Amino acid sequence: VNHLLGIKYITKNDIDLIFETADHFKEVINRPIKKVPSLRDITIANIFFENSTRTKLSFELAQKRLSADVISFSAAQSSVKKGETLIDTVNNILAMKVDMVVMRHNNPGAAYFLSKNVNASIINAGDGAHEHPTQALLDSYSIREKLGDVAGKKVVIVGDILHSRVALSNIFALQMQGAEVRVCGPKTLIPKHIESLGVKVESNLRKALGWCDVANMLRVQNERLDFSYFPNTREYAQQYGLTKEILDSLDKEIVVMHPGPINRGVEITSDVADSQQSVILDQVENGVAVRMAVIYLLASKIK
Ligand code: CP
Repeated sequence: VNHLLGIKYITKNDIDLIFETADHFKEVINRPIKKVPSLRDITIANIFFENSTRTKLSFELAQKRLSADVISFSAAQSSVKKGETLIDTVNNILAMKVDMVVMRHNNPGAAYFLSKNVNASIINAGDGAHEHPTQALLDSYSIREKLGDVAGKKVVIVGDILHSRVALSNIFALQMQGAEVRVCGPKTLIPKHIESLGVKVESNLRKALGWCDVANMLRVQNERLDFSYFPNTREYAQQYGLTKEILDSLDKEIVVMHPGPINRGVEITSDVADSQQSVILDQVENGVAVRMAVIYLLASKIK
Protein backbone atom coordinates (compact mmCIF):
# COMPACT_ATOMS: atom_id res chain seq x y z
CA VAL A 1 0.00 0.00 0.00
CA ASN A 2 1.40 3.38 -1.01
CA HIS A 3 -0.93 5.42 1.17
CA LEU A 4 -1.66 6.18 4.82
CA LEU A 5 -5.42 6.76 4.74
CA GLY A 6 -6.31 5.68 8.25
CA ILE A 7 -5.20 3.46 11.12
CA LYS A 8 -7.90 0.96 10.17
CA TYR A 9 -6.02 0.20 6.93
CA ILE A 10 -2.69 -0.65 8.62
CA THR A 11 -1.43 -3.41 10.95
CA LYS A 12 0.40 -3.71 14.27
CA ASN A 13 3.54 -4.63 12.27
CA ASP A 14 3.22 -1.39 10.30
CA ILE A 15 2.98 0.57 13.56
CA ASP A 16 6.02 -1.22 15.02
CA LEU A 17 8.04 -0.42 11.88
CA ILE A 18 6.92 3.24 11.93
CA PHE A 19 7.97 3.53 15.61
CA GLU A 20 11.39 1.87 15.06
CA THR A 21 11.98 4.23 12.14
CA ALA A 22 10.77 7.21 14.19
CA ASP A 23 13.22 6.28 16.99
CA HIS A 24 16.04 6.70 14.47
CA PHE A 25 14.69 10.01 13.14
CA LYS A 26 14.12 11.36 16.66
CA GLU A 27 17.81 10.80 17.30
CA VAL A 28 18.65 12.51 13.98
CA ILE A 29 16.58 15.64 14.64
CA ASN A 30 18.24 16.11 18.02
CA ARG A 31 21.68 16.31 16.39
CA PRO A 32 23.25 19.71 15.57
CA ILE A 33 22.65 18.90 11.86
CA LYS A 34 19.02 17.84 11.83
CA LYS A 35 18.77 16.81 8.17
CA VAL A 36 19.29 13.57 6.25
CA PRO A 37 19.56 13.37 2.44
CA SER A 38 17.17 10.35 2.15
CA LEU A 39 14.43 11.96 0.00
CA ARG A 40 16.39 14.37 -2.21
CA ASP A 41 14.61 12.94 -5.26
CA ILE A 42 11.04 13.15 -3.87
CA THR A 43 8.58 16.06 -4.21
CA ILE A 44 5.66 16.38 -1.79
CA ALA A 45 2.59 18.63 -1.88
CA ASN A 46 0.78 19.52 1.35
CA ILE A 47 -2.78 20.46 0.50
CA PHE A 48 -4.91 21.80 3.32
CA PHE A 49 -8.64 22.49 2.94
CA GLU A 50 -8.98 23.05 6.71
CA ASN A 51 -6.98 25.14 9.15
CA SER A 52 -3.99 23.61 10.87
CA THR A 53 -0.98 24.70 12.89
CA ARG A 54 0.67 21.54 14.25
CA THR A 55 -0.06 19.04 11.48
CA LYS A 56 0.82 21.35 8.59
CA LEU A 57 4.06 22.65 10.08
CA SER A 58 5.06 19.23 11.41
CA PHE A 59 4.63 17.60 7.98
CA GLU A 60 6.55 20.44 6.32
CA LEU A 61 9.38 20.18 8.78
CA ALA A 62 9.46 16.38 8.54
CA GLN A 63 9.71 16.64 4.74
CA LYS A 64 12.46 19.27 4.92
CA ARG A 65 14.42 17.22 7.48
CA LEU A 66 14.31 14.37 4.92
CA SER A 67 15.53 16.75 2.16
CA ALA A 68 12.36 16.37 0.06
CA ASP A 69 11.17 19.23 -2.15
CA VAL A 70 7.99 20.66 -0.62
CA ILE A 71 5.12 22.75 -1.92
CA SER A 72 2.27 23.84 0.34
CA PHE A 73 -1.22 24.66 -0.75
CA SER A 74 -3.96 26.31 1.26
CA ALA A 75 -7.39 25.88 -0.35
CA ALA A 76 -8.55 29.25 0.95
CA GLN A 77 -6.00 31.06 -1.27
CA SER A 78 -6.35 28.76 -4.29
CA SER A 79 -8.44 28.27 -7.43
CA VAL A 80 -10.67 25.90 -5.43
CA LYS A 81 -12.40 29.18 -4.58
CA LYS A 82 -13.14 29.57 -8.34
CA GLY A 83 -14.83 26.16 -8.41
CA GLU A 84 -11.99 23.80 -9.35
CA THR A 85 -12.67 20.24 -8.19
CA LEU A 86 -10.49 18.23 -5.81
CA ILE A 87 -9.39 15.79 -8.52
CA ASP A 88 -8.60 18.56 -11.03
CA THR A 89 -6.70 20.45 -8.35
CA VAL A 90 -4.59 17.46 -7.40
CA ASN A 91 -4.01 16.30 -10.99
CA ASN A 92 -2.72 19.78 -11.86
CA ILE A 93 -0.35 19.64 -8.89
CA LEU A 94 0.77 16.14 -9.92
CA ALA A 95 1.45 17.37 -13.48
CA MET A 96 4.28 19.39 -11.90
CA LYS A 97 5.96 16.03 -11.09
CA VAL A 98 4.84 15.66 -7.50
CA ASP A 99 5.20 12.17 -5.95
CA MET A 100 3.22 12.38 -2.71
CA VAL A 101 0.25 14.34 -1.40
CA VAL A 102 -0.50 15.10 2.25
CA MET A 103 -4.11 16.24 2.51
CA ARG A 104 -6.36 17.64 5.22
CA HIS A 105 -9.99 17.93 4.18
CA ASN A 106 -13.27 18.63 5.95
CA ASN A 107 -15.07 15.67 4.33
CA PRO A 108 -14.80 12.18 5.86
CA GLY A 109 -13.42 9.80 3.20
CA ALA A 110 -11.75 12.56 1.15
CA ALA A 111 -8.28 10.97 1.37
CA TYR A 112 -9.65 7.54 0.40
CA PHE A 113 -11.55 9.11 -2.52
CA LEU A 114 -8.39 10.85 -3.70
CA SER A 115 -6.34 7.65 -3.48
CA LYS A 116 -8.80 5.96 -5.86
CA ASN A 117 -8.77 8.81 -8.38
CA VAL A 118 -5.21 10.11 -8.73
CA ASN A 119 -1.82 8.54 -9.31
CA ALA A 120 0.16 9.51 -6.20
CA SER A 121 0.89 8.34 -2.71
CA ILE A 122 -1.65 9.92 -0.31
CA ILE A 123 -1.26 10.67 3.39
CA ASN A 124 -4.40 11.61 5.30
CA ALA A 125 -3.69 14.61 7.54
CA GLY A 126 -7.27 14.53 8.89
CA ASP A 127 -10.54 13.98 7.00
CA GLY A 128 -13.54 15.56 8.71
CA ALA A 129 -14.63 13.58 11.77
CA HIS A 130 -13.22 10.33 10.33
CA GLU A 131 -9.48 9.69 10.89
CA HIS A 132 -6.26 11.53 11.75
CA PRO A 133 -3.78 8.64 11.52
CA THR A 134 -0.50 10.49 12.09
CA GLN A 135 -1.97 12.10 15.23
CA ALA A 136 -2.86 8.66 16.63
CA LEU A 137 0.60 7.37 15.75
CA LEU A 138 2.35 10.24 17.50
CA ASP A 139 0.01 9.83 20.49
CA SER A 140 0.85 6.12 20.84
CA TYR A 141 4.53 6.87 20.26
CA SER A 142 4.40 9.40 23.12
CA ILE A 143 2.70 6.87 25.45
CA ARG A 144 5.36 4.28 24.54
CA GLU A 145 8.09 6.84 25.24
CA LYS A 146 6.60 7.86 28.61
CA LEU A 147 5.39 4.47 29.90
CA GLY A 148 7.65 2.03 28.03
CA ASP A 149 4.85 0.27 26.15
CA VAL A 150 1.30 0.80 24.92
CA ALA A 151 0.24 -2.82 25.52
CA GLY A 152 -1.70 -3.29 28.75
CA LYS A 153 -2.20 0.44 29.35
CA LYS A 154 -5.59 1.94 30.19
CA VAL A 155 -6.39 5.03 28.15
CA VAL A 156 -9.43 7.25 28.54
CA ILE A 157 -10.33 9.67 25.76
CA VAL A 158 -12.35 12.55 27.21
CA GLY A 159 -14.63 15.01 25.49
CA ASP A 160 -16.17 15.45 22.07
CA ILE A 161 -15.81 11.89 20.76
CA LEU A 162 -18.63 12.33 18.24
CA HIS A 163 -16.83 14.89 16.08
CA SER A 164 -13.29 13.67 16.70
CA ARG A 165 -11.07 12.05 14.08
CA VAL A 166 -8.38 11.92 16.77
CA ALA A 167 -10.62 9.73 18.95
CA LEU A 168 -11.40 7.20 16.21
CA SER A 169 -7.80 6.87 15.01
CA ASN A 170 -6.62 6.58 18.62
CA ILE A 171 -9.16 3.87 19.41
CA PHE A 172 -7.97 1.80 16.42
CA ALA A 173 -4.25 2.37 17.13
CA LEU A 174 -4.42 1.76 20.89
CA GLN A 175 -6.51 -1.40 20.64
CA MET A 176 -4.25 -2.78 17.89
CA GLN A 177 -1.32 -2.40 20.28
CA GLY A 178 -3.11 -4.08 23.21
CA ALA A 179 -4.28 -1.07 25.23
CA GLU A 180 -7.72 -0.85 26.82
CA VAL A 181 -9.72 2.22 25.78
CA ARG A 182 -12.66 3.99 27.41
CA VAL A 183 -14.35 7.22 26.43
CA CYS A 184 -15.85 9.85 28.71
CA GLY A 185 -18.00 12.83 27.85
CA PRO A 186 -21.53 14.21 27.69
CA LYS A 187 -23.99 11.74 26.16
CA THR A 188 -24.68 14.16 23.30
CA LEU A 189 -21.00 13.98 22.25
CA ILE A 190 -20.57 10.18 22.41
CA PRO A 191 -21.38 8.21 19.22
CA LYS A 192 -24.36 5.85 19.74
CA HIS A 193 -22.59 2.66 18.65
CA ILE A 194 -19.14 3.30 20.17
CA GLU A 195 -19.41 0.16 22.35
CA SER A 196 -19.47 -1.98 19.18
CA LEU A 197 -15.78 -0.95 18.81
CA GLY A 198 -15.01 -2.58 22.18
CA VAL A 199 -14.89 0.79 23.95
CA LYS A 200 -16.70 1.27 27.28
CA VAL A 201 -18.40 4.58 28.03
CA GLU A 202 -17.88 6.23 31.44
CA SER A 203 -19.91 9.38 31.95
CA ASN A 204 -18.24 10.37 35.25
CA LEU A 205 -14.89 12.10 34.72
CA ARG A 206 -13.48 11.30 38.19
CA LYS A 207 -14.30 7.58 37.79
CA ALA A 208 -12.78 7.52 34.30
CA LEU A 209 -9.59 9.19 35.52
CA GLY A 210 -9.40 6.89 38.55
CA TRP A 211 -9.36 3.91 36.16
CA CYS A 212 -6.82 5.09 33.59
CA ASP A 213 -3.04 5.38 33.14
CA VAL A 214 -3.40 7.99 30.40
CA ALA A 215 -6.05 10.67 29.81
CA ASN A 216 -6.31 12.16 26.33
CA MET A 217 -8.29 15.38 26.70
CA LEU A 218 -10.03 16.48 23.49
CA ARG A 219 -11.18 19.89 22.39
CA VAL A 220 -14.89 20.45 21.85
CA GLN A 221 -15.08 20.88 18.08
CA ASN A 222 -17.22 24.01 18.01
CA GLU A 223 -16.81 24.23 14.22
CA ARG A 224 -18.61 20.88 13.75
CA LEU A 225 -21.20 21.39 16.47
CA ASP A 226 -24.94 21.82 16.53
CA PHE A 227 -25.18 24.03 19.61
CA SER A 228 -28.80 23.11 20.26
CA TYR A 229 -27.83 19.77 21.83
CA PHE A 230 -24.63 20.74 23.59
CA PRO A 231 -24.13 21.70 27.25
CA ASN A 232 -22.79 25.23 27.37
CA THR A 233 -19.06 25.87 27.81
CA ARG A 234 -19.33 26.58 31.55
CA GLU A 235 -21.32 23.38 32.20
CA TYR A 236 -18.90 21.40 30.04
CA ALA A 237 -15.87 22.75 31.93
CA GLN A 238 -17.52 21.96 35.29
CA GLN A 239 -18.31 18.35 34.38
CA TYR A 240 -15.55 17.36 31.95
CA GLY A 241 -12.74 19.86 32.46
CA LEU A 242 -9.51 18.42 33.90
CA THR A 243 -8.34 20.55 36.84
CA LYS A 244 -5.34 20.33 39.17
CA GLU A 245 -7.71 19.55 42.04
CA ILE A 246 -9.01 16.43 40.22
CA LEU A 247 -5.53 15.36 39.14
CA ASP A 248 -4.18 15.67 42.72
CA SER A 249 -7.15 13.73 44.14
CA LEU A 250 -6.23 10.58 42.13
CA ASP A 251 -4.24 7.85 43.87
CA LYS A 252 -1.72 7.58 41.00
CA GLU A 253 0.08 9.92 38.60
CA ILE A 254 -1.63 9.67 35.24
CA VAL A 255 -0.18 10.92 31.95
CA VAL A 256 -2.11 13.87 30.47
CA MET A 257 -2.33 14.28 26.70
CA HIS A 258 -4.04 16.70 24.35
CA PRO A 259 -3.75 16.81 20.54
CA GLY A 260 -4.10 20.60 20.45
CA PRO A 261 -5.31 23.23 19.90
CA ILE A 262 -6.21 23.64 23.59
CA ASN A 263 -9.18 25.58 24.88
CA ARG A 264 -7.55 26.55 28.17
CA GLY A 265 -10.04 26.59 31.01
CA VAL A 266 -12.57 24.44 29.12
CA GLU A 267 -11.38 20.81 28.67
CA ILE A 268 -8.16 21.42 30.60
CA THR A 269 -6.90 24.14 32.94
CA SER A 270 -3.59 25.88 32.28
CA ASP A 271 -1.94 24.49 35.42
CA VAL A 272 -2.67 20.93 34.22
CA ALA A 273 -1.71 21.59 30.58
CA ASP A 274 1.61 23.06 31.70
CA SER A 275 2.27 20.54 34.53
CA GLN A 276 4.97 17.87 34.57
CA GLN A 277 2.24 15.22 34.08
CA SER A 278 1.38 16.74 30.71
CA VAL A 279 3.16 15.42 27.59
CA ILE A 280 1.41 17.87 25.24
CA LEU A 281 4.59 19.42 23.85
CA ASP A 282 6.31 16.00 23.73
CA GLN A 283 3.46 14.92 21.44
CA VAL A 284 4.24 17.86 19.15
CA GLU A 285 7.98 17.10 19.21
CA ASN A 286 7.35 13.41 18.45
CA GLY A 287 5.02 14.36 15.59
CA VAL A 288 7.97 15.42 13.44
CA ALA A 289 9.88 12.13 13.93
CA VAL A 290 6.75 10.01 13.43
CA ARG A 291 5.81 11.89 10.25
CA MET A 292 9.38 11.58 8.98
CA ALA A 293 9.04 7.82 9.49
CA VAL A 294 5.68 7.61 7.69
CA ILE A 295 6.91 9.67 4.72
CA TYR A 296 10.23 7.81 4.52
CA LEU A 297 8.56 4.38 4.56
CA LEU A 298 5.96 5.35 1.93
CA ALA A 299 8.59 7.02 -0.26
CA SER A 300 10.74 3.89 -0.17
CA LYS A 301 7.89 2.14 -2.03
CA ILE A 302 7.79 4.88 -4.71
CA LYS A 303 11.52 4.92 -5.42
N1 CP B 1 -3.56 18.20 16.44
C1 CP B 1 -3.84 18.84 15.28
O1 CP B 1 -4.25 18.21 14.28
O2 CP B 1 -3.62 20.19 15.31
P1 CP B 1 -3.81 21.18 14.06
O3 CP B 1 -5.27 21.20 13.74
O4 CP B 1 -3.26 22.49 14.49
O5 CP B 1 -3.04 20.58 12.91
